Parts: sequence; C-alpha cells; structure tokens
Amino acid sequence: MHQMRSKVRLDTAMTNRDDIAAMRRQYGQVGLVEEDLPKNPITLFDTWLKDAAANEIVVEANAMVLSTVADNQPTSRTVLLKDLTQDGFTFFSNYNSRKAGEIAKNNKVSLVFPWYPLERQVIVIGLASKLSKAESEKYFATRPRGSQIGAWASAQSSELSSRAELEKKFAEFEKKWPEGEQIPMPDFWGGYVVKPESIEFWQGRYSRLHDRIRYIRQDNNWLIKRLNP
Ligand SMILES: Cc1cc2nc3c(=O)[nH]c(=O)nc-3n(C[C@H](O)[C@H](O)[C@H](O)COP(=O)(O)O)c2cc1C
Repeated sequence: MHQMRSKVRLDTAMTNRDDIAAMRRQYGQVGLVEEDLPKNPITLFDTWLKDAAANEIVVEANAMVLSTVADNQPTSRTVLLKDLTQDGFTFFSNYNSRKAGEIAKNNKVSLVFPWYPLERQVIVIGLASKLSKAESEKYFATRPRGSQIGAWASAQSSELSSRAELEKKFAEFEKKWPEGEQIPMPDFWGGYVVKPESIEFWQGRYSRLHDRIRYIRQDNNWLIKRLNP
C-alpha cells in the first residue's frame, strides 16, 4: 500500500546498533600547520566558510548550532550566520523566543559549525549582545516579503493551538501590508552578534590524529594553541 505523501514515513525497524558503531570515515584532509595559520582566526574562519559554501554537498554552509545556558540547563538550536566581521558572528531571531530569554539571563553562548563533508568543525565560544535597531532594520529590509510577514506572524517558541492559527495570523498580516508596501520590522525581532572569546578549528586527519587549533582572545591579540584530538 502506498504511503500518503503528506505523512512522514516511520520505519519500524531501528538501525542496527552494530551498524551505528561501525560508522567510521577515513579522514585524510590536508592539515592545519602552525606556519600557515593567520594571526586572526576570523581570517581562517572566512576561508573555511568559503570552502563550505563552495562545496556542493554542504547544505546551508552558514548554519550554526547555537547553544545557550540558563538555570544550568543548556539548550541548542540551529540559526543562520548572516554577517561576519571582526566584531563577531551575527544571526537574527525573535527577541521573545526561548533563546532570547536565555541570552537575556546569560549571554555566554557557543556556536558550532558542523561541516562534516569537509571533515571540519568550528566551535566559537563568546558573548552575545543585541545588534542596534538600525542594523537589524537594515537586514530586515533585505528579507523576502514572506519572511518579513512570517516574522510578524510567529510568536516564536510559544505554544500554538494549531497550524491553522499560524496561517490565519500570516494571512491577516499579509492583508495589512499590501504587496509593494514596505513592511516595518517588528520591535520583537532583531539580530545578535556573538563576540568570540575563543574559536577552535577541527580538521579530520588520518588515524584519528585530527588537528585542533584553538585561538584564544587576549586583549587585542589571539593566542594560538594546539590541542590533543
Ligand atoms: C537550517 C535552519 C536554520 C535556522 N535559522 C534560524 C535563524 O536564523 N533564526 C532563528 O530564529 N531560527 C532559525 N531556525 C529555527 C531554530 O532552530 C529554532 O527552532 C527557533 O529559533 C526557536 O528556537 P528557541 O525556541 O530555542 O528560541 C533555523 C532552523 C534550521 C533547521
């Protein structure tokens, strides 16, 4: 019998546990060599981001897993990197969301860029702060109309009674601003910049002798340390 297309197919058989344990890749990438490392980790990050974006297997090269901790409970979710400067890593979200509430309590966060097809990972640890309203508005104005309306319609992270409720709100906001009219940024929406305190680059190598290079901020400079894999 055919599955209904709209239904998610659930396999009844679990993946064999031995098969999971045997999932192993040979890592052979060119490594990270001290002499070649730039003094500034943002330079190296930018090179790796470009490599990820150019790789056709990597989807969403700018996706990063943001972890926050409030009341001793870490939580994680994916967000998209939307700007990169010497000030840090920028993403946009709803200022009433769970993550926003957690950042308000504790702005120490971490970001993970999982670039598995490149056998690379970058971990950023730093402090999140809100972007200025003007900077957020500048980005909001570049978003497609549907995303702008979506920002108004979604009270991100709060409970919904049904999908229909969300679609109704979307339709209402769509009517409020006819096509072609500029949509203002909601005041509950905007960006954060994560100022890095450390940035660690992981490159898969042979025999699990992976390279781990951690840059640690020290005043206006960066210390570079190699770590055991
Ligand atoms: C690929 C991908 C990209 C995403 N990008 C964003 C983003 O840029 N901003 C955002 O608020 N949520 C983004 N999300 C949704 C978040 O992962 C998350 O569900 C949402 O922000 C609510 O998180 P919270 O309840 O912990 O605040 C993205 C999800 C995925 C899978």
